[in-house]
Amino acid sequence: MFRSSQSTSQSIAPQLKATARAGSNIAFIKYWGVANPRINLPLNNSISMTLGALHTTTTVEWDAGGRLGADEVTIDGERVEGKKAERVTQHLDLIRHLAGDRRYRARVVSRNNFPMASGIASSASAFAALTVAAVAAIGLALDRTRLSAVARHGSGSASRSIFGGYVEWERGNDDATSVARQLFPAEHWNLRDVVVVVSTAEKAVSSQNGHTLALTSPFNAARIDSLYTALQEVRAAITLRDLNRLGPVIEQDALAMHAVMMTSKPSLLYWQPGTLEVLQAVRRWREQDGLPVYFTIDAGPNVHLICEPAFERELLRRLQTLSGVRSTLTSGPGDGAETVDQHLF
Ligand code: PMV
Repeated sequence: MFRSSQSTSQSIAPQLKATARAGSNIAFIKYWGVANPRINLPLNNSISMTLGALHTTTTVEWDAGGRLGADEVTIDGERVEGKKAERVTQHLDLIRHLAGDRRYRARVVSRNNFPMASGIASSASAFAALTVAAVAAIGLALDRTRLSAVARHGSGSASRSIFGGYVEWERGNDDATSVARQLFPAEHWNLRDVVVVVSTAEKAVSSQNGHTLALTSPFNAARIDSLYTALQEVRAAITLRDLNRLGPVIEQDALAMHAVMMTSKPSLLYWQPGTLEVLQAVRRWREQDGLPVYFTIDAGPNVHLICEPAFERELLRRLQTLSGVRSTLTSGPGDGAETVDQHLF
């Protein structure tokens, strides 16, 4: 556990209210499986691109006057209770502890600029924005590395959304060393992520719960063993801006992760018929027509297609011909989580 502010963190005069914006991210080498679920210590390093166009904005106001009996959480216009609210409170507890166990409750209002029903993972942008806003409002001065470690507690992938551009989350050995760092800023390479929505149903098993099952799959060890080389390839491909080198590795790891999911006990089967329709079409377009597009898939049925800007229009045109495609959302790389001036309340 982190030590509280008396020992390690610098405090600045709290302004009590702050707003932050953080982009979601798409992993090229996935985080799947935890070595220690209490602190979200992963089994492997992961690499992602922070998404500029798909983001969460969150305002946090700490109630120093003691008027609130409990934290109040509103997401996309709706008050949330139960498990979702508890997860936010747990994260705020960590930040209260860091700030020297202040008893303040908080009002949290959060808004995604992409529809929740699109099935895009919002936990990365949500916990990155919550961390940056809550830390700023309570008056803690943490650098991005420490913010990344704090965000990781809320959701592992949130550790990467603290940074912009191309980001690697080092597995690390403990709370302080399991942090993300930027490999390249967003300007390095204008890759596009075309998110293909094939289902808007809420997933039956959250990734938070799925991570604890990875070790029950006989394929997990094989995937982990393959990652040293895969990570090297992805770093090199990003450095050289070489999509034809990046693509095969990201497809392989997405399929390996889903093989682990499908063969864990209990088995997780996130794919829908539309998922397979998109995967097969992308391979056909690439192999028969030379369209340089590669897929990756998170813990859900929707497919992320990675391409260069020059091929985006043609890709979108072709996607319209597939019966399983409900909608698409597109983003390039974006900056890391930041505080912004405009509050949500
Ligand atoms: O951060 P979580 O617990 O939502 O896990 C993210 C898991 C994947 O999206 C499937 C992979 C990744 O690295 O983002």
